[in-house]
Amino acid sequence: MIVLGIESSCDETAAAVVESGVLVRSSVVASQVALHQEYAGVVPEIASRRHVEQILPVVREALAQAGMGLGMVDAIAVGNRPGLIGCLLVGVAAAKSLAWSLGRPLVGVDHVAAHLYSGLLRDEPPATMHASFPALGLVVSGGHTSLYLLEDWTRSCRLGSTIDDALGEAYDKAATIMGLPYPGGPVIDRLAADPLADDRAHDLPVSRLGADSLDFSFSGLKTAMLYAVRGVPGGRHAPPPPLTDDRRRDLAASFQRAASKAIILKLGRALDRSPQARTLFTGGGVTANSRLRRELEAFATDRGLTLHLPSKRYCVDNAAMVAGLGCRLLEAGVRHGPDLQAEPTTSM
Ligand code: KG4
Ligand code: ZN
Repeated sequence: MIVLGIESSCDETAAAVVESGVLVRSSVVASQVALHQEYAGVVPEIASRRHVEQILPVVREALAQAGMGLGMVDAIAVGNRPGLIGCLLVGVAAAKSLAWSLGRPLVGVDHVAAHLYSGLLRDEPPATMHASFPALGLVVSGGHTSLYLLEDWTRSCRLGSTIDDALGEAYDKAATIMGLPYPGGPVIDRLAADPLADDRAHDLPVSRLGADSLDFSFSGLKTAMLYAVRGVPGGRHAPPPPLTDDRRRDLAASFQRAASKAIILKLGRALDRSPQARTLFTGGGVTANSRLRRELEAFATDRGLTLHLPSKRYCVDNAAMVAGLGCRLLEAGVRHGPDLQAEPTTSM
């Protein structure tokens, strides 16, 4: 089955053509990062207007790169939730129009579930692609940080999620505090990769919440970063030393250490509680982080899990993950009609 995927939930306009749910024939992403950089975050109205301009060129480019015409597409999948409502509406309207005019099935896909699926995508024909369930799922992105137990691609249960900032959001804010450009995750990752970086220079907090909690909290880590850079309010502590490049590098490494530790801690708790899970699906922009990738690999080896870690190009928002999961949902009999709605919240 050839599925055309469309994604417009935040600041990336994306379209992709995926075969059999796993083989990516094309994946085109028009990023708006430069448009939002001066605001250090996504401005919803600017984002939706840009999607309107980009959506058809991006779909055309995805088809061209796949060497296909619209007539060869068997179904249309669209990320219809969660996200910025004005942004989602652009992709949903385009997908509905295409599905209706081509007389092909339409399926709405949850963006969070699509991130979980992204580790199964391949750029070369896969020898075999079997994912076994039940599985644990970890999504760490700019908007979400959650753990799931998945029975299959249509049934899942949320085990925990962040009670304040998402991890990507915390990365971006930590970078802003250090005077680094937006989005800050990749910048912090690069600084921390310096061989001279000392990840123990700052003892930043790892939130545990309750002894049994599978939730996350990153606001304490963010505040600790703020105090390390600007000093503790109240004037009882010595002011911090100036923010040199060396200090930024050590702060970045220390931040990454605490952030990754928090994720692995809760994954360990989740697996203790659901030992029947033998697979770990991961996804979202922060799974591009080199330290987190290493720690996830070590965790999976240590606990005997099969890890599906997306290749870096499928960690951040893309439409291949939407098309891939859309294919699995269509195989399971899921179909949507012209009444498919854009929804701001996740169903997961
Ligand atoms: O999944 P995504 O593209 O969008 C959402 O669905 O939110 O994730 C974007 C987030 C941003 O916060 C960005 O800073 C973060 O992913 N990110 C990273 C890295 N690359 C992207 N965070 C840490 N390390 C990275 N290498
Ligand atoms: Zn995302």
